[in-house]
Amino acid sequence: MQSSFDGKPHVGIIMDGNGRWAARRGLPRGAGHEAGIEAMRRVLRAAVDEGVGTLTLYAFSSDNWRRPAAEVSLLMALLHRYLDGETEGLVRDGIRLSVIGRRDRLPDNLAAEIARSEAATEWGDALHLRVAIDYSGRGAILAAASGARADLTQEDFGALVSGDVASVDLIIRTGGEQRLSDFLLWECAYAELYFTPLCWPEFGAEHLAAALAEYRARTRRFGGLGAQPSPIRVPAPAR
Ligand code: IPE
Ligand code: IPE
Ligand code: MG
Repeated sequence: MQSSFDGKPHVGIIMDGNGRWAARRGLPRGAGHEAGIEAMRRVLRAAVDEGVGTLTLYAFSSDNWRRPAAEVSLLMALLHRYLDGETEGLVRDGIRLSVIGRRDRLPDNLAAEIARSEAATEWGDALHLRVAIDYSGRGAILAAASGARADLTQEDFGALVSGDVASVDLIIRTGGEQRLSDFLLWECAYAELYFTPLCWPEFGAEHLAAALAEYRARTRRFGGLGAQPSPIRVPAPAR
Protein backbone atom coordinates (compact mmCIF):
# COMPACT_ATOMS: atom_id res chain seq x y z
CA MET A 1 0.00 0.00 0.00
CA GLN A 2 1.72 3.15 -1.19
CA SER A 3 0.78 6.69 -0.37
CA SER A 4 1.66 9.88 -2.13
CA PHE A 5 2.05 11.38 1.35
CA ASP A 6 4.89 9.12 2.53
CA GLY A 7 6.34 10.01 5.89
CA LYS A 8 3.27 11.90 7.02
CA PRO A 9 0.90 9.92 9.23
CA HIS A 10 -2.40 8.47 8.14
CA VAL A 11 -4.93 9.27 10.83
CA GLY A 12 -8.40 7.71 10.97
CA ILE A 13 -11.11 9.23 13.13
CA ILE A 14 -14.26 7.49 14.33
CA MET A 15 -16.36 10.60 14.87
CA ASP A 16 -18.68 9.26 17.55
CA GLY A 17 -20.86 10.86 20.21
CA ASN A 18 -22.94 13.39 18.24
CA GLY A 19 -26.21 12.05 19.65
CA ARG A 20 -25.03 12.04 23.24
CA TRP A 21 -23.60 15.54 22.86
CA ALA A 22 -27.05 16.76 21.77
CA ALA A 23 -28.94 14.76 24.41
CA ARG A 24 -26.84 16.29 27.17
CA ARG A 25 -27.93 19.71 25.98
CA GLY A 26 -31.59 18.77 25.63
CA LEU A 27 -31.30 19.06 21.84
CA PRO A 28 -32.47 16.66 19.13
CA ARG A 29 -29.86 14.24 17.75
CA GLY A 30 -29.81 16.20 14.49
CA ALA A 31 -28.34 19.18 16.30
CA GLY A 32 -25.47 16.91 17.31
CA HIS A 33 -24.90 15.90 13.71
CA GLU A 34 -24.91 19.56 12.62
CA ALA A 35 -22.32 20.34 15.28
CA GLY A 36 -20.40 17.27 14.11
CA ILE A 37 -20.10 18.76 10.63
CA GLU A 38 -18.57 21.90 12.15
CA ALA A 39 -16.07 19.69 13.97
CA MET A 40 -15.16 18.04 10.65
CA ARG A 41 -14.34 21.43 9.16
CA ARG A 42 -12.29 22.44 12.21
CA VAL A 43 -10.34 19.21 12.52
CA LEU A 44 -9.53 19.09 8.80
CA ARG A 45 -7.77 22.48 8.96
CA ALA A 46 -6.00 21.39 12.15
CA ALA A 47 -4.82 18.21 10.42
CA VAL A 48 -3.25 20.26 7.62
CA ASP A 49 -1.45 22.39 10.21
CA GLU A 50 -0.29 19.28 12.10
CA GLY A 51 1.28 17.71 9.00
CA VAL A 52 -1.14 14.81 8.69
CA GLY A 53 -0.78 13.17 5.26
CA THR A 54 -4.03 11.26 5.02
CA LEU A 55 -7.12 11.81 7.15
CA THR A 56 -9.91 9.23 6.96
CA LEU A 57 -13.13 10.33 8.65
CA TYR A 58 -15.81 7.75 9.45
CA ALA A 59 -19.03 9.62 8.67
CA PHE A 60 -21.60 6.86 8.08
CA SER A 61 -21.15 3.13 8.51
CA SER A 62 -23.04 0.53 6.50
CA ASP A 63 -24.66 -0.49 9.79
CA ASN A 64 -25.92 3.07 10.31
CA TRP A 65 -28.70 2.31 7.77
CA ARG A 66 -30.36 0.65 10.79
CA ARG A 67 -31.15 4.06 12.24
CA PRO A 68 -34.55 5.75 11.82
CA ALA A 69 -35.18 6.98 8.26
CA ALA A 70 -35.42 10.61 9.37
CA GLU A 71 -31.96 10.51 10.99
CA VAL A 72 -30.47 8.79 7.94
CA SER A 73 -32.00 11.40 5.60
CA LEU A 74 -30.65 14.20 7.73
CA LEU A 75 -27.16 12.69 7.74
CA MET A 76 -27.23 12.33 3.94
CA ALA A 77 -28.41 15.91 3.56
CA LEU A 78 -25.71 17.20 5.90
CA LEU A 79 -22.99 15.29 4.05
CA HIS A 80 -24.26 16.71 0.77
CA ARG A 81 -24.21 20.21 2.21
CA TYR A 82 -20.74 19.63 3.64
CA LEU A 83 -19.26 18.57 0.29
CA ASP A 84 -21.08 21.30 -1.60
CA GLY A 85 -19.90 23.99 0.79
CA GLU A 86 -16.38 22.69 1.28
CA THR A 87 -15.18 21.83 -2.22
CA GLU A 88 -14.01 25.32 -3.14
CA GLY A 89 -11.98 25.54 0.06
CA LEU A 90 -10.50 22.09 -0.50
CA VAL A 91 -9.30 23.12 -3.95
CA ARG A 92 -7.85 26.35 -2.56
CA ASP A 93 -6.03 24.51 0.22
CA GLY A 94 -4.71 21.71 -2.00
CA ILE A 95 -6.73 19.00 -0.27
CA ARG A 96 -7.64 15.95 -2.33
CA LEU A 97 -10.98 14.41 -1.43
CA SER A 98 -11.94 10.77 -1.85
CA VAL A 99 -15.06 9.09 -0.57
CA ILE A 100 -14.75 5.43 0.40
CA GLY A 101 -17.62 3.00 0.79
CA ARG A 102 -20.53 1.98 -1.37
CA ARG A 103 -22.06 4.58 -3.69
CA ASP A 104 -24.98 2.62 -5.08
CA ARG A 105 -27.23 3.09 -2.03
CA LEU A 106 -26.61 6.82 -1.60
CA PRO A 107 -29.14 9.46 -2.70
CA ASP A 108 -28.44 10.49 -6.30
CA ASN A 109 -27.66 14.09 -5.39
CA LEU A 110 -25.04 12.98 -2.83
CA ALA A 111 -23.41 10.54 -5.26
CA ALA A 112 -23.26 13.31 -7.89
CA GLU A 113 -21.77 15.77 -5.39
CA ILE A 114 -19.13 13.23 -4.39
CA ALA A 115 -18.12 12.76 -8.03
CA ARG A 116 -17.96 16.53 -8.52
CA SER A 117 -15.87 17.13 -5.41
CA GLU A 118 -13.48 14.30 -6.16
CA ALA A 119 -12.93 15.54 -9.70
CA ALA A 120 -12.45 19.14 -8.57
CA THR A 121 -9.88 18.24 -5.92
CA GLU A 122 -7.95 15.45 -7.62
CA TRP A 123 -4.71 17.46 -7.89
CA GLY A 124 -4.54 18.37 -4.22
CA ASP A 125 -1.24 17.38 -2.64
CA ALA A 126 -1.29 19.03 0.80
CA LEU A 127 -3.47 16.38 2.45
CA HIS A 128 -5.62 13.47 1.31
CA LEU A 129 -9.04 13.65 2.95
CA ARG A 130 -11.04 10.45 2.78
CA VAL A 131 -14.62 10.45 4.00
CA ALA A 132 -16.12 7.03 4.70
CA ILE A 133 -19.82 6.93 3.78
CA ASP A 134 -21.82 3.67 3.68
CA TYR A 135 -18.49 2.10 4.63
CA SER A 136 -17.86 -1.34 6.07
CA GLY A 137 -14.36 -2.68 6.73
CA ARG A 138 -15.60 -6.24 6.27
CA GLY A 139 -17.41 -5.19 3.12
CA ALA A 140 -14.21 -3.68 1.70
CA ILE A 141 -12.28 -6.89 2.39
CA LEU A 142 -15.02 -9.02 0.91
CA ALA A 143 -15.21 -6.87 -2.22
CA ALA A 144 -11.44 -7.19 -2.68
CA ALA A 145 -11.52 -10.96 -2.05
CA SER A 146 -14.15 -11.54 -4.69
CA GLY A 147 -11.85 -10.02 -7.31
CA ALA A 148 -8.57 -11.46 -6.02
CA ARG A 149 -6.34 -14.17 -7.47
CA ALA A 150 -5.28 -16.93 -5.10
CA ASP A 151 -1.54 -16.09 -5.31
CA LEU A 152 -1.77 -12.46 -4.25
CA THR A 153 0.68 -11.07 -1.68
CA GLN A 154 -0.62 -9.16 1.34
CA GLU A 155 0.62 -5.98 -0.35
CA ASP A 156 -1.23 -6.65 -3.60
CA PHE A 157 -4.37 -7.65 -1.73
CA GLY A 158 -4.09 -4.55 0.45
CA ALA A 159 -4.13 -2.42 -2.69
CA LEU A 160 -7.41 -4.09 -3.67
CA VAL A 161 -8.90 -3.47 -0.24
CA SER A 162 -7.83 0.11 0.27
CA GLY A 163 -6.46 1.54 -2.97
CA ASP A 164 -3.22 3.49 -3.04
CA VAL A 165 -3.43 4.48 0.61
CA ALA A 166 -0.90 3.61 3.30
CA SER A 167 -1.85 1.64 6.40
CA VAL A 168 -3.39 3.61 9.22
CA ASP A 169 -0.92 4.95 11.80
CA LEU A 170 -3.33 6.33 14.35
CA ILE A 171 -7.01 5.79 15.06
CA ILE A 172 -8.80 8.36 17.19
CA ARG A 173 -12.28 7.55 18.50
CA THR A 174 -14.34 10.16 20.25
CA GLY A 175 -17.42 9.48 22.36
CA GLY A 176 -15.89 7.13 24.92
CA GLU A 177 -16.48 3.77 23.21
CA GLN A 178 -13.40 1.61 22.71
CA ARG A 179 -14.11 -0.34 19.54
CA LEU A 180 -13.57 -0.12 15.78
CA SER A 181 -17.20 -0.57 14.64
CA ASP A 182 -16.10 -2.08 11.28
CA PHE A 183 -13.74 0.79 10.36
CA LEU A 184 -10.61 0.13 8.22
CA LEU A 185 -10.09 -3.40 9.54
CA TRP A 186 -7.32 -4.31 7.10
CA GLU A 187 -5.54 -0.97 7.26
CA CYS A 188 -5.46 -0.90 11.08
CA ALA A 189 -3.27 -3.98 11.54
CA TYR A 190 -0.64 -1.92 13.41
CA ALA A 191 -2.54 1.30 14.04
CA GLU A 192 -2.06 3.01 17.37
CA LEU A 193 -5.42 3.46 19.10
CA TYR A 194 -6.45 6.60 20.95
CA PHE A 195 -9.78 6.87 22.73
CA THR A 196 -11.22 10.03 24.23
CA PRO A 197 -14.45 10.54 26.21
CA LEU A 198 -14.99 13.86 24.44
CA CYS A 199 -17.93 13.82 22.07
CA TRP A 200 -17.10 14.59 18.43
CA PRO A 201 -18.71 18.08 18.41
CA GLU A 202 -16.34 19.02 21.27
CA PHE A 203 -13.20 17.85 19.50
CA GLY A 204 -10.91 20.57 18.21
CA ALA A 205 -7.41 21.46 17.08
CA GLU A 206 -5.93 21.18 20.56
CA HIS A 207 -7.35 17.66 20.98
CA LEU A 208 -5.96 16.55 17.64
CA ALA A 209 -2.59 17.97 18.66
CA ALA A 210 -2.72 16.06 21.97
CA ALA A 211 -3.59 12.79 20.20
CA LEU A 212 -0.74 13.26 17.73
CA ALA A 213 1.69 14.09 20.54
CA GLU A 214 0.78 10.85 22.30
CA TYR A 215 1.09 8.94 19.01
CA ARG A 216 4.58 10.37 18.39
CA ALA A 217 5.68 9.37 21.90
CA ARG A 218 4.67 5.73 21.42
CA THR A 219 7.11 3.00 20.36
CA ARG A 220 5.93 1.09 17.31
CA ARG A 221 7.51 -2.32 16.82
CA PHE A 222 5.54 -4.00 14.01
CA GLY A 223 6.31 -7.38 15.55
CA GLY A 224 10.06 -6.69 15.76
CA LEU A 225 12.10 -5.37 18.66
CA GLY A 226 11.84 -1.67 18.00
CA ALA A 227 15.11 0.16 17.49
CA GLN A 228 17.29 -2.99 17.52
CA PRO A 229 18.08 -4.42 14.06
CA SER A 230 16.73 -7.91 13.51
CA PRO A 231 19.54 -10.55 13.42
CA ILE A 232 17.58 -12.94 11.25
CA ARG A 233 15.95 -12.60 7.89
CA VAL A 234 12.19 -12.53 8.00
CA PRO A 235 10.77 -15.34 5.87
CA ALA A 236 8.12 -14.42 3.33
CA PRO A 237 4.76 -14.17 5.11
CA ALA A 238 2.26 -17.00 4.70
CA ARG A 239 -0.32 -16.16 2.07
C1 IPE B 1 -21.64 9.58 15.30
O1 IPE B 1 -22.44 9.97 16.36
C2 IPE B 1 -22.27 9.88 13.97
C3 IPE B 1 -22.71 8.69 13.25
C4 IPE B 1 -22.54 7.46 13.64
C5 IPE B 1 -23.38 8.89 11.98
P1 IPE B 1 -23.66 9.07 16.87
O2 IPE B 1 -24.88 9.46 16.12
O3 IPE B 1 -23.33 7.63 16.82
O4 IPE B 1 -23.75 9.58 18.37
P2 IPE B 1 -24.02 8.69 19.65
O5 IPE B 1 -23.01 7.56 19.65
O6 IPE B 1 -25.43 8.20 19.55
O7 IPE B 1 -23.81 9.65 20.78
C1 IPE C 1 -19.39 4.30 14.35
O1 IPE C 1 -20.24 4.85 15.31
C2 IPE C 1 -19.71 4.86 12.99
C3 IPE C 1 -19.42 6.29 12.80
C4 IPE C 1 -18.86 7.08 13.68
C5 IPE C 1 -19.78 6.81 11.52
P1 IPE C 1 -21.57 4.08 15.79
O2 IPE C 1 -22.21 4.95 16.77
O3 IPE C 1 -22.37 3.67 14.59
O4 IPE C 1 -20.93 2.76 16.45
P2 IPE C 1 -21.53 1.76 17.53
O5 IPE C 1 -22.90 1.35 17.04
O6 IPE C 1 -21.60 2.49 18.84
O7 IPE C 1 -20.55 0.63 17.57
MG1 MG D 1 -22.44 6.33 18.15
